[in-house]
Amino acid sequence: MVIAQMWATPVAQQQIDLPEAIREALIAVLKRKDAERGDLAKRAPDFHAFMKDKGFYATSHYNLFDEADAHPEREALRSFERVACLSAREYLGNALGLREARDVQLSGRCFGNVQRKGDRTLPHYHQGVDFVLVHYLAVGHGVDQEAGSTPRNGPHALLLLDPRPVPTFPYWEKVHSIQPRVGLTLLTPGYLWHETNPFRFDGDRVCIVVNFNVITNTYAELHRPMRF
Ligand SMILES: [Fe+2]
Repeated sequence: MVIAQMWATPVAQQQIDLPEAIREALIAVLKRKDAERGDLAKRAPDFHAFMKDKGFYATSHYNLFDEADAHPEREALRSFERVACLSAREYLGNALGLREARDVQLSGRCFGNVQRKGDRTLPHYHQGVDFVLVHYLAVGHGVDQEAGSTPRNGPHALLLLDPRPVPTFPYWEKVHSIQPRVGLTLLTPGYLWHETNPFRFDGDRVCIVVNFNVITNTYAELHRPMRF
């Protein structure tokens, strides 16, 4: 039997040490956005009504790259957009083998996630998104008693679920666990299911996220919203 893993799931890890001033500015803007979450009905009434109708929740309906000029941290956001795009193109070229990785046009949305003690990220994937970049800006400190009592998946670890439709399998062989640290940057396909173990450290856990799509030079520019 010859097995060819023809289409693996590429997950990239990269350490990016942002200048401290930029890291602090990004944390500040993300904490401010987090504090405004309750204003969604006012900021985006149509989206809020849609999510309410579906019985769902929405926490990050904004794009920091798009609204950068409205923030005092605009320079930090521009710097991070550049860093994120360089990383994204490296991922497209090396992980996905895209020959035009340096030339394709990218579109994206930048948002963030702020967690305090007891919070976690519920299982999800990024709908309609080609690939995702996550960068950890702050990971808290202290001791997680529960996570420390078991060898399974460390404190507030990111858990990535095997996307293959294989038969029943021991779950611990179906999950990859990645331990966050400041500066760790991950790129994954948007379809990849993921979640986090609870954050039980002191301080805040803050990550900045970019949803990327590749705008091809084929037929994408001809697409329009349908009338019916
Ligand atoms: Fe996510």
